[in-house]
Amino acid sequence: MRGQISRSTKDMTTKNLIIIFIFFATSLTSQTTTKPSTIKIKKDNSDILKGQKIYIDNCKVCHDNQKLGPKLNGVTEKYTKQWVLDFTVNSERLIRLKDKDALKIWLAWKKAPMTVYDGFTKETLDQLYTYLKTLKK
Ligand code: HEC
Repeated sequence: MRGQISRSTKDMTTKNLIIIFIFFATSLTSQTTTKPSTIKIKKDNSDILKGQKIYIDNCKVCHDNQKLGPKLNGVTEKYTKQWVLDFTVNSERLIRLKDKDALKIWLAWKKAPMTVYDGFTKETLDQLYTYLKTLKK
């Protein structure tokens, strides 16, 4: 008789443990369901951060210096994405093609040459552009 009672007490404890386990498992599952949106926000941020690094490594030296180049703030509002990226990749090409906007900024800067970036991948350019969009006027 005694043995039976203590066994059922033991069963109760196991049952409680299972309930507690299910409770935690459920709360873990519900955390997983909220994850996708967290990942998305992180991805957008990291594109801006990657673009910022590309900008710091390549463009900042001239474009954050009033004497060497114009500020790029508002550049994504002034031109199309295609133009901004074409000018970045090879500004001389646009000038040779007598693109009006390219000639205008080139003459305003007394024909100062800009570095050619024809080695950038599409992904690099997209990340750079995502960062340039955050530079408001
Ligand atoms: C050696 C200095 C230098 C570097 C480095 C440089 N630029 Fe420039 N950039 C210029 C100058 C100078 C101009 C003005 C036009 C001209 O003289 O060619 C210009 C113009 C521009 C313009 C047109 C701005 C406007 O308001 O019309 C864009 C866009 C641009 N640069 C993007 C970039 C990006 C993006 C990078 C980095 C990947 C970069 N530049 C690196 C010197 C530089």
